[in-house]
Amino acid sequence: MAKTGMYVGLDIGTTSVKVVVAEYIEGQMNIIGVGNAKSEGINRGIVIDIDKTVQAIQRAVAQAEEKAGIQIRNVCVGLPANLLEVEDCQGMIAVNNESKEITDEDVRNVASAALVRSVPPERQIITILPQDFTVDGFEGIKDPRGMIGVRLEMNASIFTGPKTVIHNVRKCVEQAGLFISEMIITPLALTSSILSDGEQDFGTTVIDIGGGQTTVAVMHDKQLKFTYVNQEGGEFVTKDISTVLNTSFKNAEALKINYGDAYPERTSTSEEFPVDVIGQSEPVNVDERYLSEIIEARIEQIFVKAKEALDEIEALELPGGIVLSGGAASLPGVVELAQEIFDVNVKLHVPNHMGLRNPVFTNVISILEYAAELGDVYQLTKSAVTGETPQVEQSSQAYTREPAYEQPAPTYEPEEPAYQEPNDPEPSEGFGDKVKNFFSNIFE
Ligand SMILES: Nc1ncnc2c1ncn2[C@@H]1O[C@H](COP(=O)(O)OP(=O)(O)OP(=O)(O)O)[C@@H](O)[C@H]1O
Ligand SMILES: [Mg+2]
Repeated sequence: MAKTGMYVGLDIGTTSVKVVVAEYIEGQMNIIGVGNAKSEGINRGIVIDIDKTVQAIQRAVAQAEEKAGIQIRNVCVGLPANLLEVEDCQGMIAVNNESKEITDEDVRNVASAALVRSVPPERQIITILPQDFTVDGFEGIKDPRGMIGVRLEMNASIFTGPKTVIHNVRKCVEQAGLFISEMIITPLALTSSILSDGEQDFGTTVIDIGGGQTTVAVMHDKQLKFTYVNQEGGEFVTKDISTVLNTSFKNAEALKINYGDAYPERTSTSEEFPVDVIGQSEPVNVDERYLSEIIEARIEQIFVKAKEALDEIEALELPGGIVLSGGAASLPGVVELAQEIFDVNVKLHVPNHMGLRNPVFTNVISILEYAAELGDVYQLTKSAVTGETPQVEQSSQAYTREPAYEQPAPTYEPEEPAYQEPNDPEPSEGFGDKVKNFFSNIFE
């Protein structure tokens, strides 16, 4: 079914809140607005201050509204994978209808039957994702509506998460004046959106290295089988640099972006750059290799922990290898280091949308794309979770367009960049052309 309409994705990250507005015209996606505002109130992927988070969401939304020339009302928001659990479930019902033709209500009822289970008081069901239906023993049906049968069965995955995480995300978005049309489990969106059909089928691991946490997700047989969260990310690398070199967090971030490399072998001890050290009146020269070793130590630790988790479920045997995403994965040398530690094929995913060719946007684009793909059957099974009447005719796209729809092609130039362009420490001679990080240009 070709999608048409407007979708807004919202990714509430530890480092920044991202918003992307896309318009679908008969299945063709056009990004028409982007917002990226520095986060406050999020720590290690989790909301710790509702008011500050609300303000960050509002800033990001305002940027995107300005770019897109619309007023955003409904958003599809990503949910982090912290303590997420995935479980297979089955439901079975006798078809109600006299004519035995399967209706929307039967689909909702079979989902309700699959949902019967006890959930601990601190957890809640986020969503139920139908895999396939069986009608009178005939398996593998994706949409049984309109078919005739007396017995309807459904295989599905149930996702549960901590009530507090889900509540806080909801509260922040609603308090920012927005309506949540879909809550999307971020690693589910990510794996579904960035992996090819074959990768999803044969099995692939996605590692999203954000600012405050790293999320590992394994997709196999086109289902999200496993997630693991390590609450360490790129901000920890910056903190390490700041602590070891005795320089401010802001300087450390600039050093990381401008000279950082996670793979010391290919760096040199003779390339030096000046660092403003606290308590010293003159900048101190530090060499590229030393900086690289600081970075490597943290990223290696993140990867080793991820490897332990992946080894337990033998996910590294899967033929798809590893796909990296997230802001911290764009640091040079991360792919090489991952390759060495995991000993499988590793590649970095960079979104292929004009103005968004930066791994920090991978999640928000995936959230949006995933939400846009959700069909009627999903809406019906979801309504068994929420108890709300499904809006199978209208998708997740209420919005108000302010001006007449004649927008210039979107360009991405946030007024308040999420990351202050770092105070570029004066590079030593001959080093300028070694400023490696092209992704940072996006904030210029
Ligand atoms: N070009 C770059 N080179 C190195 N690191 C970068 C670059 N761009 C962004 N980062 C790092 O990526 C991190 C932010 O990534 P991202 O935006 O994916 O995180 P987030 O989604 O806000 O956080 P999380 O997912 O952990 O909640 C920061 O630590 C930042 O320093
Ligand atoms: Mg993130």
